[in-house]
Amino acid sequence: MKGYSITTLNEFIIRRQANIPYAKGELSRLLHHIGIAAKVVNKKVNKAGLVDVLGEAGNINVQGESQQKLDVFADMQFTAALSDSGECCGIASEENQEIITFDDDLSKDGKYIVCMDPLDGSSNIDVNVSIGTIFSIYRRISPRGDKAQLIDFLQEGNKQIAAGYIIYGSSTMLVYTTGQGVNGFTLDPSIGEFCLSHPNIKTPETGSIYSLNEGNYLKFPEGVKKYVNYCKEEDKSTKRPYSLRYIGSLVADFHRNLLKGGIFIYPETASSPKGKLRLIYECNPIAWIAEQAGGKASDGKNRILDIKPETLHQRTPFYTGAHGMVEKVESFI
Ligand code: AHG
Ligand code: MN
Ligand code: MN
Repeated sequence: MKGYSITTLNEFIIRRQANIPYAKGELSRLLHHIGIAAKVVNKKVNKAGLVDVLGEAGNINVQGESQQKLDVFADMQFTAALSDSGECCGIASEENQEIITFDDDLSKDGKYIVCMDPLDGSSNIDVNVSIGTIFSIYRRISPRGDKAQLIDFLQEGNKQIAAGYIIYGSSTMLVYTTGQGVNGFTLDPSIGEFCLSHPNIKTPETGSIYSLNEGNYLKFPEGVKKYVNYCKEEDKSTKRPYSLRYIGSLVADFHRNLLKGGIFIYPETASSPKGKLRLIYECNPIAWIAEQAGGKASDGKNRILDIKPETLHQRTPFYTGAHGMVEKVESFI
């Protein structure tokens, strides 16, 4: 009988490193630590319902520590993993107003900074619907040996070194790119490893799913309203009407569309003229993955990856997914 062969995330990272001349393994170590934090958060996500049922989610646990909400827990877990890696001198997170610098000698010497949304789709936690984590890695601009600085984090998305997301869904997956295509790994709970399950992901050139919060229709810009109506029109040659699918977790909505073909839209609205989603830790990493899979990402007019961030928590309208569909909505805008 023949055993089945698997490629684990760590093995894959190391193989990829061998293709990069002069790579010293720093990025590999960083990605490895992100993988570990993902497994810890995954365990916690799986128990989220139970903890509620059993009433353990009170204020104080047995260790006398106050119990944390899942997004705070995820933030702490990823922060600890990145700090432990020794390769990262600082992070920006949705959960913290300012950047966090790691000031021990090892970390200060680290080449990289990380931007993250530790838990994306928080409103879906309590109802057992898919949630995620998004991360983005840059080479620092400030000198190694110094504390990380704000300028390290305000780089254009086209300077990313690696980007990815974890989806905690009916199975847990980690999907990432280092600029050589997109690869997806599914967590095999029986061996506790992320295993290569979706090599070299390519998104369809066009699709038949559109995803946006249509409840905000009246507040959408005219071009988006027209595009939504276009999605609903009957036309066999373009497989319209399209299907509307919207979970309300960017990671889950994007992941489905990446595999099946579709467009995700979070436009500017009358009440939030810059949209809702954050450029540096939500849109940039997702945009790079979209492009690496053959798709497209824009703010309706400009390529997301070419926007120069001015502030840490800057928002941007976001249109991403199948190349043809993003081009189409741009033509309406
Ligand atoms: P987060 O949970 O990190 O705050 O992100 C929620 C975001 C994103 O995941 C999703 O696409 C969007 O909010 C949904 O917003 P609406 O509820 O306005 O549709
Ligand atoms: Mn989010
Ligand atoms: Mn979040």
